[in-house]
Amino acid sequence: MAINSRIPGLRDSTPRERRAVVASNAGIDESVLEALDPENGLGVEKADHMIENAIGVIGIPVGVATNLRVNDRDYLVPMATEEPSVVAAASNAARMARVHGGFRTSTTGDVMIAQIQLVDTVDPDGARLRLLEARDELLATADAQDPMLVSLGGGARDLEVRLVPTSTGVHVIAHLIVDVRDAMGANAVNTMAEALAPRLAELSGGRALLRILSNKADRRITRVRGVFDAELLGGPDVVDDIVRASAFATADPYRAATHNKGIMNGITAVVLATGNDTRAVEAGCHSHAARDGGYTALSRFEKDADGNLVGTLEVPLAVGLVGGATRVHPVAQAAVTLLGVETAAELAGVIAAVGLAQNLAACRALAAEGIQRGHMTLHARTIAASAGATADEVGAVAARIVSEKRIRLDHAQAVLAELRAGSPVG
Ligand code: MEV
Repeated sequence: MAINSRIPGLRDSTPRERRAVVASNAGIDESVLEALDPENGLGVEKADHMIENAIGVIGIPVGVATNLRVNDRDYLVPMATEEPSVVAAASNAARMARVHGGFRTSTTGDVMIAQIQLVDTVDPDGARLRLLEARDELLATADAQDPMLVSLGGGARDLEVRLVPTSTGVHVIAHLIVDVRDAMGANAVNTMAEALAPRLAELSGGRALLRILSNKADRRITRVRGVFDAELLGGPDVVDDIVRASAFATADPYRAATHNKGIMNGITAVVLATGNDTRAVEAGCHSHAARDGGYTALSRFEKDADGNLVGTLEVPLAVGLVGGATRVHPVAQAAVTLLGVETAAELAGVIAAVGLAQNLAACRALAAEGIQRGHMTLHARTIAASAGATADEVGAVAARIVSEKRIRLDHAQAVLAELRAGSPVG
């Protein structure tokens, strides 16, 4: 069944009701989403098999972003985040792109790099060529480590050798380029790197030191483009100001870091919800932002011939669907089923689209009314809950502390006490 990601009014339901409607729109059984209830989610016993010295688990809210359409297909996107506004902002921005067909993506493929560091070589230039002469033998050794990957159409694709001048002399750095298919790929390429190291050391006449993947996954780039409707954004002046905001982030690393943080609000939330490695993706994205030496924005916004806003984003996304927490964590499994993605590249496309949507929403708010209005309204609910308000009381307490512009714990406590006593706070 085709997923329908348009669910107006979802926020007016309870979490249980939302799970039912989300499952129905995604064409999956409601029971799949039961893992999202903490009672059925990751238990401490399973956690004990995942890490060492496990003593418990931490809960992070999981919301569903609506309206997302990528490459002519709808997605309901699970996002794990503790930050208010993020899910609403992504859904809202996705709606503004949807009227122009949604997002389009392209990818360079599921290709990862493993590095083998060779030190103490007497003739680095000669060593480099000796390694390249043995390319076919080395790729065959790498493939022999993972017949399953090879049977799925993946495996070692190339060998590159760089000479890197360092404070301890010239190091010969071998890059093994591997198509990892639908895996994140760390285990596959690390095993290959370790297996190749002795032969590489022999050929180089030196010693193999580090053997590990590079998180600068610049052979695994996902690109996304979306056209955001000028009228829905608030008119031509808002479009022009978002273009100026984008120019600021491109030119200034202080702004670029915050601009990219907005992108990562979306990217990390989906990476986490699907049980993927948030640190790997973040390291990759920030290294990409610094690829030309200076640190810059990962996205760009410009105006098209019709006056609409075109957003583009290019990020390395080392995410997978097989192995790791994605296969073990019950919430991650539910998240992947809800998304209905079939390949790692498809998942990466959705993640990049959410990153761009998130980024647009933040830039729009900053260029128009400012970020605090929407943010503080949602933040007020957190403050009201911290003050002890029950689910029935949170709305009323939050509304009061926002309208009185005193979004503080002490005032929320006073308002709550007043509501319960039925007498006004002075
Ligand atoms: C807050 O989590 C993210 C923003 O700072 C991003 C931005 O400034 O573009 C709002």
